[in-house]
Amino acid sequence: MKIVVIGGSGLIGSKVVSKLREAGHEVVAASPASGVNTITGEGLAEALKGAQVVLDVANSPSFEDKAVLEFFETSGRNLLAAEAVAGVKHHVALSVVGTDRLSESGYFRGKIAQEKLIRESKIPYTIVHSTQFFEFLGGIAQSGTDGDTVRLSPAFVQPIASDDVATAVADYTLGKPVNGVVEIAGPERVRLSDLVQRFLAKTSDPRKVVQDVHARYFGAELKDETLVPGPNPRIGALGFEAWFALPKPAR
Ligand SMILES: NC(=O)c1ccc[n+]([C@@H]2O[C@H](COP(=O)([O-])OP(=O)(O)OC[C@H]3O[C@@H](n4cnc5c(N)ncnc54)[C@H](OP(=O)(O)O)[C@@H]3O)[C@@H](O)[C@H]2O)c1
Repeated sequence: MKIVVIGGSGLIGSKVVSKLREAGHEVVAASPASGVNTITGEGLAEALKGAQVVLDVANSPSFEDKAVLEFFETSGRNLLAAEAVAGVKHHVALSVVGTDRLSESGYFRGKIAQEKLIRESKIPYTIVHSTQFFEFLGGIAQSGTDGDTVRLSPAFVQPIASDDVATAVADYTLGKPVNGVVEIAGPERVRLSDLVQRFLAKTSDPRKVVQDVHARYFGAELKDETLVPGPNPRIGALGFEAWFALPKPAR
């Protein structure tokens, strides 16, 4: 099968590209670095020629509210139009568990717009909703940092290792379109503030986490269940301790 991975140079993209190639498929790792740009359209038609499946794991270079919305709207529109011309049979996209509950957040308004375009297109699709990646914990800590303090919500999270995300996404890419959402998550449900404190302690980071139910996550206040999946997610193998024990390049 010819598969195009948009965002194929990214954290998840590069792992999925390796897994799909190991399974014997012809895979194009597409991103601006390799001359394929879903915003300008550069190289897009060429990359999609003869492709049966497209996986979109691109992300916005800027997380500023307006820039994110513009990125996902323009990228989604250009990509789906090019896929229709190329006769692509399955569009797979990676999004976030709870996206539909997070419209208060500029970042998530971008993801909502991306998903809406996919649902409204005529191309069969699978939207994979993942929980937060363990690799993103440092970024979450940074987003709540004020001096030596990290103010974070105690809402529940069920984070997952990027390698488990890539394995699941590769399977859905090779499977039949679901024409709906599937959810993936890690094996343990914990409070966000507690997990980030554990992460900081393990990395000898002196910052202290302060629990605050009003602390915003990318602009949105969280309820206990906002970021956790429904009853039947696919569960990744690695919990926090096992992920942290991986040799540095792998985490
Ligand atoms: N972080 C989390 O915890 C989390 C949780 C659930 C879901 N997700 C979703 O997972 C997805 C992938 O995240 P990630 O962390 O793997 O992303 P990442 O490492 O930041 O990679 C982003 C990718 O997007 C590409 N890209 C940027 N602008 C592009 C453009 N104009 N055209 C084509 N490609 C473009 C980049 O290409 P270059 O390298 O060439 O610039 C790069 O390959 C995102 O959609 C995110 O919403 C994230």
